[in-house]
Amino acid sequence: MVSGRRKIAVIGAGNVGATCAFVLAQMKIADIVLLDIYEGFAKGKALDMSQNANVLNYNGTITGTADYKDIAGSEVVVVTSGFPRQPGMTREDLIGKNADIVSQVGAGIKDHAPDAVVIVVTNPLDLMTYHMQQVTGFPPERVIGQAGVLDSARMAHFIALELNCAEEDVSPMVLGGHGDTMVPLPRYTTVGGIPITQLMSQDRIDAISARTASGGGEIVKLLERGSAFYAPGSAAAVMAESVLNDRRRLLPASCLLTGQYGLSDVYIGVPCIIGSNGVEQIFELDLTDEELGSLQGSGEFYKGQLKDVLGY
Ligand code: LAC
Repeated sequence: MVSGRRKIAVIGAGNVGATCAFVLAQMKIADIVLLDIYEGFAKGKALDMSQNANVLNYNGTITGTADYKDIAGSEVVVVTSGFPRQPGMTREDLIGKNADIVSQVGAGIKDHAPDAVVIVVTNPLDLMTYHMQQVTGFPPERVIGQAGVLDSARMAHFIALELNCAEEDVSPMVLGGHGDTMVPLPRYTTVGGIPITQLMSQDRIDAISARTASGGGEIVKLLERGSAFYAPGSAAAVMAESVLNDRRRLLPASCLLTGQYGLSDVYIGVPCIIGSNGVEQIFELDLTDEELGSLQGSGEFYKGQLKDVLGY
C-alpha cells in the first residue's frame, strides 16, 4: 500500500465479497484487499477487477490473498465468508458450519487488524455478528452486522414499484433479526417525508412487509443454487464507506443491545449512526405495543439460538 493511502479488507471472495469489493472500488475511497482461503480465487477476482481500473478510472489497488498478514492496516474489514443458503434452508440452518468459519476469520482479524471496524455479512447474520464480537473481543461498537441496509433496500424497492415513484425518495426502516422474525416498520417508512401509511392501503403495506421479510428466500428459490449477492454486497459497501469516511449515516444495522427495547446481550437490527468508531449511537424509537412485541420476539428468538445452539 502506498503510504497515506487507506485500506479496506473484504474476507471471502465469493459472490457477496466480490460484489462488495467491486462496489467499493467504484466508490474510489480506499485500496482493497480481497482475502479467501482459496488463494487463486481471491487473486483471480482481484486481477479481474484490477483490469477494469482503466475503464472505471479507479486508481487504487485491489489485491487478492490468502494471507491475513495482508489485511494489516485495514480500517474496515467486511466479513462475507461462509456457506450461502440453498433452496429449502433457513439462514439458521447454516449456524454450525459458518460459526467455525467465523471463529477462524475472527482470529485472523484480531491478530492482524486489531483496530479495525468489522462489518459482518455471514449468515445467520445476527448470531454470527455476536459470535464475531466474542471471538475478536473487540468493543461491541466495532463489530456491526449488515442486514438492515439490505432488508430496508428491499422494502424500498417494493414501495417504489407499488407507488411507481423514484427509488431515491423512499426512506425505509426495517428492524429486528435478518430472518423470519424481521420487523418492517411502515410507520417509520416514508416517501418524500410522508409515511407510507398515508400513501397506500394496509393490505398493500402488509403484502410489501411480507415480501420484504422473505426477500432473500425469494431470490434463493429463483437462483436454485446460492443466495442473493448484488444487494447484500452493495449494502455492506455502503456501511464500510460510512465508517471509513466518518459519514455518520443513520442506518438500521445489527448492534449489541444493552437494555434498549428491553433487550440485552443479543445482536439485533436497530437504527444507529455509523461512523469512524463503528456504532456511534443507537436510537430507541417510540414503538406501538405490537411493533415492540415483534422486535422483542425477534431478540428473544436469537437469544435462545445463542444459548441453545452456540452455547453462549
Ligand atoms: C439475503 C441473504 C444474503 O437476505 O441473507 O439475501
